[in-house]
Amino acid sequence: MQRILRSQQWFGRKGKDGFIYRAWMKNQGIPSYEFEGKPVIGICNTWSELTPCNAHLRELAESVKRGVSEAGGFPVEFPVMSLGETLIKPTAMLYRNQVSMDVEESIRANPVDGVVLLCGCDKTTPALVMGASSVNLPSIVVSGGPMLTGKYKGKDIGTSDLWRFTADHKAGMMTDEEFATAEAAMCRSRGHCAVMGTASSMACMVESLGLSLPQNAAIPAADARRKVLAQLSGKRIVEMVKEDLKLSDILTRKAFENAIMVNAAIGGSTNFIIHLLAIAGRIGVPLTIEDFDKVSAPIPLMANLQPAGAFFMEDLFYAGGLPAVLKELDGFLHGDCVTANGRTIRDNYKEAECYNRNVIATIAHPFNDNTALAVLRGNICENGAVIKPSAASPHLLQHSGKAVVFENIEDYKKRIDDPDLPVDEHSVLVLKSVGPKGYPGMPEVGNMTLPRKLLEQGVKDIVRVSDGRMSGTGFGTVVLHVSPEAVLGGNFSVIETGDIITIDVPARSLNVDLTDEELNRRKQKRKSRPAVAERGYVNLYINHVEQAHLGADLDFLKGGSGSEVLRDSH
Ligand code: FES
Repeated sequence: MQRILRSQQWFGRKGKDGFIYRAWMKNQGIPSYEFEGKPVIGICNTWSELTPCNAHLRELAESVKRGVSEAGGFPVEFPVMSLGETLIKPTAMLYRNQVSMDVEESIRANPVDGVVLLCGCDKTTPALVMGASSVNLPSIVVSGGPMLTGKYKGKDIGTSDLWRFTADHKAGMMTDEEFATAEAAMCRSRGHCAVMGTASSMACMVESLGLSLPQNAAIPAADARRKVLAQLSGKRIVEMVKEDLKLSDILTRKAFENAIMVNAAIGGSTNFIIHLLAIAGRIGVPLTIEDFDKVSAPIPLMANLQPAGAFFMEDLFYAGGLPAVLKELDGFLHGDCVTANGRTIRDNYKEAECYNRNVIATIAHPFNDNTALAVLRGNICENGAVIKPSAASPHLLQHSGKAVVFENIEDYKKRIDDPDLPVDEHSVLVLKSVGPKGYPGMPEVGNMTLPRKLLEQGVKDIVRVSDGRMSGTGFGTVVLHVSPEAVLGGNFSVIETGDIITIDVPARSLNVDLTDEELNRRKQKRKSRPAVAERGYVNLYINHVEQAHLGADLDFLKGGSGSEVLRDSH
């Protein structure tokens, strides 16, 4: 029996209601046969000139439209709020949940049968997948693709070099002119960051979850094959609608485990944890922060990509792309998970080949034995904290040192370069009040630039601990996402300069050398200082955002409401 398309609840109506729904569409010059019985495909676009990584997505939408039409569907493009990581203040993460609401309500409220999610820059991908998951129509992701690799003084560069250039410039090892030249050389094409930062980790996440066609993650934005992938995705979503292949059919517990294993193999961003937890919460798959450590434990780092390695996303594509990584993980992955093209993930990668073992190593001879992400517990992070051991200094993975505490980001900025700051290479920098509620929005400031006096001595890394996040392009021995965050008044909030902090990554622990009595005494004295916003979205966010170990979603957005529209005003 043929299913009645959802869009026909609008366009298939008789009388006044149908007249209204159809007549106003016709003002765009669209004949009625376009929406009479054809699958209507929404193209959810995060295009914006204020999101440079996504600025080319309208062009990509044209390729999607060609594919939709070719398969007998009717494409309709609609905008949602976009999040440009580099321009949005105070931090794009503050608005991830807001965009997810925009996406969810835009999809449900409109006559669409399936959706193509066009995203790229960091938060745009999880925001779109979260919102679409709460509606659960057939959906496919098309990422914008990474930039071409930057070129500076004969070297390949990408966003991770920004941190190195900043340290060199601060230490007087790079002139203003060199700094400006590097600035022009880094982002030399359309697309998102070229390293395995958060945007690339998210593109790999959707491919390993099965939400995109194979090779979505790594085809450069400037490569003509990106448009081909967009057209094929447009064609495929029409078939997905006919098959009624919904997000919940693809986003199973096994698919989440696949994504966790792949993220470990590619050295993906720490932000992956927070976003995947939030997506799982929307689609109703049980997932905890412990799962990341457990599931990824047997997986070594195989992709030699910045910031943990040497190469770039462009190199990953030329080496065979994500399917070549997946094939190497064949003994670990759940190969029977269904993906957006209707085939299993194993069917998608079984013919893949690796063309460059310097970029994609093997399970037998991995690029780095260290696991990509580890979850720590201890008396300053009772609900967990995360670290990326593959991007840390091996000699600091087991370390004790005196804390140098900054109460907030302003305090850090004011004092970090004070010549009298009691800091040396053994110290542990602690930054508080940069968590979800505390900042608010949990900015990417956790990989604090080191004090100038240490940089001048040639020190490249010391242990850093915060309740904030780190850019996926960042590196160093950086402990992030401390939960509960400081403004909730827990143990982390009462650490003082001079306290001894011990990190032991192999034992998965992070502790301050204080008794429970002393911690309690300090907590009673401390007045917690939650951030305050009198009105608007930020007020809503502060009052409802959950802690990092739960995915930092708004508590009332968990789960979904399906695609049914309950009331009908016409
Ligand atoms: Fe957009 Fe890096 S700034 S992906």
